[in-house]
Amino acid sequence: MIFDTHTHYDDEAFEEDRDVLLAGMEAAGIGKILNVGASLEGVRASQELAGKYPFLYAAAGVHPDHVGDLDDDRMQWMYGLCAGEKTVAVGEIGLDYYWDKESHEIQKKWFAAQLAMARETGLPVSIHSRDAAQDTFDMMKSEHAGTTGGVIHCFSSSAQMALEYVKLGYYIGIGGVVTFKNARVMKEVAAAVPLERILLETDCPYLAPTPHRGRRNSSLYLPLVVEEIARIRGIAPQEVEDTTYENAVKLFGCAVR
Ligand code: NI
Repeated sequence: MIFDTHTHYDDEAFEEDRDVLLAGMEAAGIGKILNVGASLEGVRASQELAGKYPFLYAAAGVHPDHVGDLDDDRMQWMYGLCAGEKTVAVGEIGLDYYWDKESHEIQKKWFAAQLAMARETGLPVSIHSRDAAQDTFDMMKSEHAGTTGGVIHCFSSSAQMALEYVKLGYYIGIGGVVTFKNARVMKEVAAAVPLERILLETDCPYLAPTPHRGRRNSSLYLPLVVEEIARIRGIAPQEVEDTTYENAVKLFGCAVR
């Protein structure tokens, strides 16, 4: 079975067929899904999906592009959600200097506040970092370092940086990008990180693997990512599937109260 540790099924890309698609997941070998908030509306929608599907869990957190919408009341609301039985992570949170929608100062302020929420509620984190590798790592090290664990989602930095995160106790999220022909660095990451520290993810509807690149992604394409990681490491796809599933259950399952 496969655990998809980072999805956005609340996205409008799934408006037409969300229920049909999700109803078919278990039969297709997708055993568990973690739907991650990005906007405040995404956080709310993740809760709704988690209430509807037993195999689907929710994360609560606001993406760096949307932290301008946060205030103390909304943080309190998320603290409340973190106490819920099916909320198993805080995310996705982090820094995004590519889109740069908010100043770095504001992004860092709310990243720190949400890392504190994870520490205080005992939940692992799902981290978004784009063009901000060093600042993200420094904040993870100073503000959170290993306290509740977590995953660096859609990891896109060097193999060396991946191993630094592993040393701090984090997992590395690998998805469709590893299948891209020109993704040399991601293939290095998939080879270098111990299998016990890798999680599978889609980030759907984005980042569909080859040969579906550019189209809408879903958890149903994850076997293509499993096969590529297995090929790179020279092991059986089943081993990749089983170990990454156990990794995710261990990281998030402990928080299923
Ligand atoms: Ni995402």
